[in-house]
Amino acid sequence: MQLGEPSRTARAAAFHRAAHQVLEQGRIFADPLAVRILGEDADAIAREAEARPSSRRMRFFIAVRTRFAEDALAAAVERGVSQLVVLGAGLDTYAYRGSLRDRLRVFEVDHPDTQGWKRRRLADAAIPLPATLTFAPVDFERQTLAEGLAAAGFDPAQPTFFTWLGVVPYLTDDAVWSTLGFIANLPHGAHVVFDYGDPPDSLSPEARDRHERGAAHVAGLGEPWVNYFEPDSLHARMRDLGFFEIEDLGPREILSRYFPQRAAAAPDRGGHVLHAATSNARPAGRLQKEQPAE
Ligand SMILES: C[S@@+](CC[C@H](N)C(=O)[O-])C[C@H]1O[C@@H](n2cnc3c(N)ncnc32)[C@H](O)[C@@H]1O
Repeated sequence: MQLGEPSRTARAAAFHRAAHQVLEQGRIFADPLAVRILGEDADAIAREAEARPSSRRMRFFIAVRTRFAEDALAAAVERGVSQLVVLGAGLDTYAYRGSLRDRLRVFEVDHPDTQGWKRRRLADAAIPLPATLTFAPVDFERQTLAEGLAAAGFDPAQPTFFTWLGVVPYLTDDAVWSTLGFIANLPHGAHVVFDYGDPPDSLSPEARDRHERGAAHVAGLGEPWVNYFEPDSLHARMRDLGFFEIEDLGPREILSRYFPQRAAAAPDRGGHVLHAATSNARPAGRLQKEQPAE
């Protein structure tokens, strides 16, 4: 991120969600506030998205990751989760329109520069702030999540769901693992959903070309991708921390769940979205229990 400026990739992700509403009528992920919070005209959004046909894949990936997170959250709320922490929230709108928002205390954690911009966007769009919402400004590279959440009144004794969408690829390994360690150590259970990418050198030549174009784009916005994971070693390290249920959708699983008509064309490596729960979190949704490594 550029010092003193809101995240430009947060605007880009919000743009993709808005474009998905305008161009695909929210077919994968419906968000009635996506256009309003962006503060741009729907026709201009459609024109900008259609002028960049190569952005379609990222638009669908962002729609999928948000849908996957909110479906898992809904199942977890039915099983007793009462707090939601939106990590690196950007212009995420769950707190303002989510169907189960009244059953949750919601904490939006973000870099102070991005959060200040979001608050101005909410005010300009006349989107009311629910009483259940608390803003927690945190720079993950300088402050721990524990400190930021404690200052915001987070109750570590309540079962909690963390969404962490579009953030992990931008963070150092230390920032990622200290956040996962905090989540894993919550005494009454936690869920986390985040997305990540396979290491670029493991991609097919075609996927690697696509990846390099995306990486150059975000680097040009001042927010380079710096973090990738090998799924097996990521899962093993997460299990060591105490996440015993892990559901990880790679490109194949994403296509077969959300775009079954295109599943045959799926590459086996690329972007993933992962839902994990600690052993003291009650099982939720479609989580499949993984066998511990020998
Ligand atoms: C690509 S945006 C994703 C935003 C949102 N989750 C979404 O899906 O639209 C990345 C987010 O990570 C946040 N972020 C990046 N580095 C951060 C840091 N060091 N501390 C706190 N937040 C950070 C940015 O402020 C931004 O909101």
